Amino acid sequence: MDHFQYKNGVLHAEDVALADIVAQVGTPFYCYSTATLTRHYQLFTEALSPMPHLVCFAIKSLSNIAVLKVLADLGAGMDVVSAGEYARARAAGVPGDRIVFSGVGKTRDEMRMALTGGIRQFNVESEPEMRALSQVATALGKVAPITIRVNPDVDAKTHEKISTGKKGDKFGIPISRAREVYAEAATLPGLKIIGIDVHIGSQLTSLDPFEAAYLKIADLTQQLRADGHTIDRLDLGGGLGIPYARDNNAPPLPSDYGAMVKRTVGHLGCEIEIEPGRLISGNAGILVSQVIYVKNGDDRDFLIIDAAMNDLIRPAMYGSHHDIIPLNEPPAGADQQPFDIVGPICESGDTFAKSRNLPEMTEGALIAFRSAGAYGAVMSSEYNSRPLIPEVLVRGDHFAVIRARPTLDEMLARDTIPEWL
Ligand code: LLP
Repeated sequence: MDHFQYKNGVLHAEDVALADIVAQVGTPFYCYSTATLTRHYQLFTEALSPMPHLVCFAIKSLSNIAVLKVLADLGAGMDVVSAGEYARARAAGVPGDRIVFSGVGKTRDEMRMALTGGIRQFNVESEPEMRALSQVATALGKVAPITIRVNPDVDAKTHEKISTGKKGDKFGIPISRAREVYAEAATLPGLKIIGIDVHIGSQLTSLDPFEAAYLKIADLTQQLRADGHTIDRLDLGGGLGIPYARDNNAPPLPSDYGAMVKRTVGHLGCEIEIEPGRLISGNAGILVSQVIYVKNGDDRDFLIIDAAMNDLIRPAMYGSHHDIIPLNEPPAGADQQPFDIVGPICESGDTFAKSRNLPEMTEGALIAFRSAGAYGAVMSSEYNSRPLIPEVLVRGDHFAVIRARPTLDEMLARDTIPEWL
């Protein structure tokens, strides 16, 4: 469910007509709904409510500080993977003890930053990282709380670029070696073992791979406890998928996921953490764009729009589907025709959709890409020297620009010409 709906024939974000935002901000832009972010966060907290838990939003999916503040004010924790994300979480008012630090390549500087600023736990991904963290913590006179990310060798059955829990992936340590790695961790002076971490991939549309992984984690918890370790916390990662196309089978709901978590690991008495990104932010955002030209090709018609692959790279990168709808609701039963919807960038990959049925389109028509809140703005670039596009947050009947569109001068001002040129 989301809060981007037609009212009186025009698309609204909550109670704001998107055309009003277009009039003030221009196109293209990202628009997020506070109500959808809140609702999706709460679905997870409700789903996990029978167990002690913390929902840590995966900042990588949508990292605007205003969005983080919406979630932080609800009590959310944050999952960060870089100094920049850590700084964003803190700037949004998230206390250190609600921040978990994930990622395969944490630098010593990042470790220092988090240890000094406050951290709930590091999710350690390798033995060298574990040793480095112990050294950094010891030098600071601190003890780093850790889980170790294990790779459970489970096929997440998702896109190969976002599958992370299979043998051969770069993530975590093989579950078969977990006991020896925990044994070493226990000897390192700067570390305190508190639990186990697992994350098997993103956009999962079935609970089965999660269930297989969590059952292995339940076994491992008991083995590690028998070995004398304290395992009080299980970080079960993110990854629950969202419905990208309205007419497809919907992935499992957070409530089903919560019941499965309870079934698989609920008896262990651990505090449960999860790191959802997409399910909270994905359908809480849209990308609004305008048709520049309608170009009639030999065997197809193109909609050339003012958003491009630099603004939303998911279709080019993963072949992802995003529903595309006009801001003005077409009359029921209106004729549709197929368009290739493309951006202005000079490569064929700058194609959002092929043969997508839309009602009649003319120059200047406004369209919205649905489900663009997650991995949209955060993955954008200035390729073709196109400035990053604005982000807008809506709550009820008001909206605010939460990241302004840079002027060309601001974009150019970041480059410097050496005086010897
Ligand atoms: N935790 C860890 C350790 C992760 O690596 C990820 C995502 C998440 C949590 C959040 O996963 P989510 O709940 O959002 O599925 N750019 C790709 C997705 C990359 C996901 C990377 N890791 C896309 O646009 O589909």
